[in-house]
Amino acid sequence: MDSLEGLRTKLIVEGGHRLEGVVAPPGAKNAALPIMAAAILCESEIVLHRVPRITDVDVMTAILESLGARVREQPGGTLVIDASSINSFVAPYALVSKLNASFDVTGALLGRFGRAEVPRPGGCVLGPRAVDMHLRGFELLGATVDLEHGSVVVRSSALRGNTIGLSKPSVGATKNIMLASVRAKGTTTLENAAREPEVVDLADFLNAMGARISGQGSDTITIEGVSKLHACEYTIIPDRLVAGTYLLAGAITRGDVTITGVDPAMLAALRDQLLASGCDVQTEGVSVRVRGSERWRGADVTTAPYPGFPTDLQPPLVAYLSLAHGESKVEETIFDARFVYVDELLRMGADITVSGRTAQIVGVAKLKDAVVEAPDIRAGGALVLAALAAEGTSEIGGLEYIDRGYEFFEERLASLGATVVRASGVAPVMPQADIGNTVKLPRIVTPFRAQST
Ligand code: EPZ
Repeated sequence: MDSLEGLRTKLIVEGGHRLEGVVAPPGAKNAALPIMAAAILCESEIVLHRVPRITDVDVMTAILESLGARVREQPGGTLVIDASSINSFVAPYALVSKLNASFDVTGALLGRFGRAEVPRPGGCVLGPRAVDMHLRGFELLGATVDLEHGSVVVRSSALRGNTIGLSKPSVGATKNIMLASVRAKGTTTLENAAREPEVVDLADFLNAMGARISGQGSDTITIEGVSKLHACEYTIIPDRLVAGTYLLAGAITRGDVTITGVDPAMLAALRDQLLASGCDVQTEGVSVRVRGSERWRGADVTTAPYPGFPTDLQPPLVAYLSLAHGESKVEETIFDARFVYVDELLRMGADITVSGRTAQIVGVAKLKDAVVEAPDIRAGGALVLAALAAEGTSEIGGLEYIDRGYEFFEERLASLGATVVRASGVAPVMPQADIGNTVKLPRIVTPFRAQST
């Protein structure tokens, strides 16, 4: 998609429909992106299943290809990556600047070639995106780190394992240090590591390639260096953040939505909030079912690293709480500026006051239709939820963000009974078999054409 395409395209959401049915979330974006970067570490072919069909994956594919890797897409969300042909360790600014997660290629290139040149990530709408812990980690593994013409240049003739303590459990630093140390000599111990399921998935994938990593999911990860990795086939975990968005869509429309194929433990923090607000939530096997209440209660929520309440579900939760009975207080502790989207909710009639990293929400009886613009991926999810519950028909712009993280969003929502159409431009066309839904898929009236990816 060209950058203007997303700006021209809008989602038109008719509010007031109760969502009902079963939906299976796609593969996790935040696992797929570092796993694709990790393929750099291996000279043999890697086959990845359940790769989400989102534009962030297209950008990571383009980055790998720009380095010389060969990437083949197969139907149903499978990617075959052959990094044996990589002949560059310089990641191009034009691609890296589109995707914060592309900084993951730094650790992987350093781990395989002892050298990487990757543009330093800038800030984004969520606030500054610091990488000091990534760089300190590379140094402790024996690399030199320089900033040259805006790029981070890391070099090492022989990486050596070390004990590395993070000042906070950064997801990105944990992933990058794991990637750099997998082929280092000796043992690396990473303390105060991030415990997110996507970090665990990356470690499990590296182990499937022959790495020796233990402790993933706890705050101490041990990486015993190996000299070589081998080919493997791997299936990415389902996206808990997308799953959480569908659960909140069920709750905010007073509906009955089951998400399936997900480990409910990954959604425990959201489940607790939904239960406390008055929803009925049931978990069975790999399914979580939410039945919304007519009028739910407000809550006090603070985002935190996993297993705390995820920052990525904070915007969809705020949309839900904006219709609660009573007041709520939501504190954001991970990012400096994650309430930018609140102005758009105000235009829909929400009553929210933001002060620094805290949002005070006074629940309103109803939201009203508006033309709004998504400033980032999860805020886009939040605005769609608000529109599903609002009176009238809302228009949501900024689809270039929503398409970065939500695979076939309007098709899945439509399968649950939402009336959502893409007004113009390019829309992904989802094979019906991929929807994982027991409810018949209503076809959307379309000016659509197939996306080329
Ligand atoms: C990952 O970002 C996710 N992105 C984010 O999802 C998610 O919100 C975040 O983790 C927290 O769970 C991907 O996985 C691709 P961090 P990441 O390193 O790795 C500061 C989405 O839309 N920090 O845990 O960047 C940093 O500035 C995205 O899907 C340092 O100070 O998260 C931030 O404030 C949005 N120094 C905080 O820590 C460092 O060296 C959390 O960063 C590194 C980070």
